[in-house]
Amino acid sequence: MSSVARAPGRVNLIGDHTDYTGGLVFPMAIDRDTTIVFEQSPKNSPGEPARSASTRADAVSLTSENFEGTVQFDLPVTDAAAVRPTWGRYVAGVAAAMTERSLPVRGFHGRVATEVPIGGGLSSSAALEVAAALAFGIDTDVATLAAVCRRAEHLATSVPCGIMDQLTSAAGVKDHALLIDCHTLDVTPVRIPESLAVWVVEISSRTLDGSEYPARVAQCAAAEREIGPLRLAGLESADRIADRTIRSRARHVVSENERVRDFAAALVAGDAREAGRLMYASHRSLSRDFETSTKQMDEAVDGLSRVPGVHGVRMTGGGFGGCVVVLAEDDAPIGTAVSAGTLVMRVRAADGASLATPLS
Ligand code: GLA
Repeated sequence: MSSVARAPGRVNLIGDHTDYTGGLVFPMAIDRDTTIVFEQSPKNSPGEPARSASTRADAVSLTSENFEGTVQFDLPVTDAAAVRPTWGRYVAGVAAAMTERSLPVRGFHGRVATEVPIGGGLSSSAALEVAAALAFGIDTDVATLAAVCRRAEHLATSVPCGIMDQLTSAAGVKDHALLIDCHTLDVTPVRIPESLAVWVVEISSRTLDGSEYPARVAQCAAAEREIGPLRLAGLESADRIADRTIRSRARHVVSENERVRDFAAALVAGDAREAGRLMYASHRSLSRDFETSTKQMDEAVDGLSRVPGVHGVRMTGGGFGGCVVVLAEDDAPIGTAVSAGTLVMRVRAADGASLATPLS
């Protein structure tokens, strides 16, 4: 009998490029999953002839419904980034990150499938990592699960991502967005009013691997060397930074943390107009001060802002392409407002990752 590990993608409503300085984010897990159907590899009995990689207890063998090829590696993993096909790096990264923390890693063989658009900025890699961790038998609190999966991403790709994506995939709550303090890792679910719809529109497919993402992380670290933790800073200290670029990056982070707080309060108060206003302000800040938007994304935000019933639009996630997120009235005609062939989907806030075993 097979087990099933399931982990959702995420969309961030507001609060981008704040997580890796311990700031505030406001994402939700979405009703699009990555699923691994697997069987735990049986233990070798003493004296038994060596098994093949697809059935050994200390090995992993995984195929994908979305990609060609079989990922196979032995445990413990020595070089996760070298595993091929490339999607297997994320799986191997999880095993390596668990081993680093001395967590037991159980081999498995199985098949992965995903409904999360790949390379669209909806955290397909985080969903794969979290599902893989469950298949490896991780048994920790969600914060540790997310930290292991974040480390896996670092080992797999060297992109120095924050913890938002993995924590959202692990800790999602149906019908709620999550106000996450990335310093304390406190997660506060905030209900999304039923009258509102969240849509995602893909502008371009991309990967953060090879993007300017690491440069932004380094620029924020430079700002912190000058004025201390950005999560505690105000705009007046950001404005004291001498270098123009570093100052702009700091201004984005400091103002974005404030917008996340205000956005959560606006949702609780049922003030969709104010929530939308904050989304536009966030987009402008990411576009001008943080420079992670693209011309296409700016145009999409502009175009979608004119659709009746739309409250707010902004780029979401790491940027340099990817998706924009739209907050709109339930009946706003977003699906028909985009040009033919564009990936557009209404998403609903979903529960975080889960494992179903034959006995559960
Ligand atoms: C990517 C990273 C996250 C976060 C966002 C930007 O999705 O994986 O950790 O930094 O970009 O908010």
